[in-house]
Amino acid sequence: MKPKQATTLAHPNIALSKYWGKREYGHNLPAVPSLSVTLAGMTTATTVTFDPSLEKDVLILGGQETSGGPLDRVTALLDRVRKRSEVTEKARVVSANDFPTASGLASSASAFAALALAASTAAGLHLSPEEVSNLARMSSVSAARSVLGGFVELRAGWPRDEKLSAQQVAAPEHWPLRVIVAVVSEGPKTMSSTDGMAHTARTNPFFPAWVERAPGIYARIKQAVEKKDLEALGVVAEESALAMHATSIAAAPALIYWTATTLDVLAEVRRLRASGIRAYATIDAGPHVKVLCSPDDEAEVVKHLGAVPGVKRTIVARPGPGARVFAAAEERPGGDSLSGDPPSVSYATLDVESIDLETISAKQ
Ligand code: PMV
Repeated sequence: MKPKQATTLAHPNIALSKYWGKREYGHNLPAVPSLSVTLAGMTTATTVTFDPSLEKDVLILGGQETSGGPLDRVTALLDRVRKRSEVTEKARVVSANDFPTASGLASSASAFAALALAASTAAGLHLSPEEVSNLARMSSVSAARSVLGGFVELRAGWPRDEKLSAQQVAAPEHWPLRVIVAVVSEGPKTMSSTDGMAHTARTNPFFPAWVERAPGIYARIKQAVEKKDLEALGVVAEESALAMHATSIAAAPALIYWTATTLDVLAEVRRLRASGIRAYATIDAGPHVKVLCSPDDEAEVVKHLGAVPGVKRTIVARPGPGARVFAAAEERPGGDSLSGDPPSVSYATLDVESIDLETISAKQ
């Protein structure tokens, strides 16, 4: 029998117009619209194998078996897939990132985009990108956007929405923008975005003002993306990120994702602008700063950000593709030979940008 297995790749995305806050009527619906760019340059690789010998789902994250909250979120997604398909077996999920996990580099976005596609493919469901996006969104709102490539939007949820998928606004080739990530810390962040936004909505009396303001910010961002206007985009993207962080800073107790280095990088970005380089910052629920610039200024921006004390390294990213199947056992000639043994791919030591089918097959 062919193994019910699939390997997928997905990239994180960076929200230019931020999502922060959920609707109160369930289904994990966002309270505000968002618009992001999916980033080639950082990758998550995930293999899902439904295996009759397993008594429970197993999650191996970056080479480590993981239980508790992360496993529960993975099982919830797998249960949705099992409910829709003929599959009843438990699954082994092997996943790894080539960038810091759970630290505000949007690892949940690429993780759940890769998982939604891998689990549905391994289960033999042939879902459309919209359906994969909806499946990913139920686990992580930002993951809905990483299912698609290039510039991607997700509208706010409304009372009767049960399904909600992200939509592509423009393909990656539309605009060869650069996003330079200044990595400020390799450790996990202080509070997950799910907990952070719930805490903020519960305790910050100004939160409704953010929900009211966000759609206008999103509309200006969308227009700037369509016109490929870097200055307009950068100014509003900074506004979105700082308004979002202002909501969590004004929560009680304050939720501050930044470190002193985060502020030093923001100051460096302002200095770059004063010197005539068009560079603009955005920050997610973590301390890292992502800087938007044109390809012509990439080297100069990398040099300056890398020289800020406390910046551990920089990653250059650009608009990239959505989640995709890398290897599905059912599509592989001789796939039967894979049955029996669980996959032993060590993604932790794998350069996911250069993996090919032979590498995966050889390691299995
Ligand atoms: O969907 P989550 O739980 O990964 O939350 C994402 C929140 C931000 O990254 C801060 C903003 C966004 O729109 O991606």
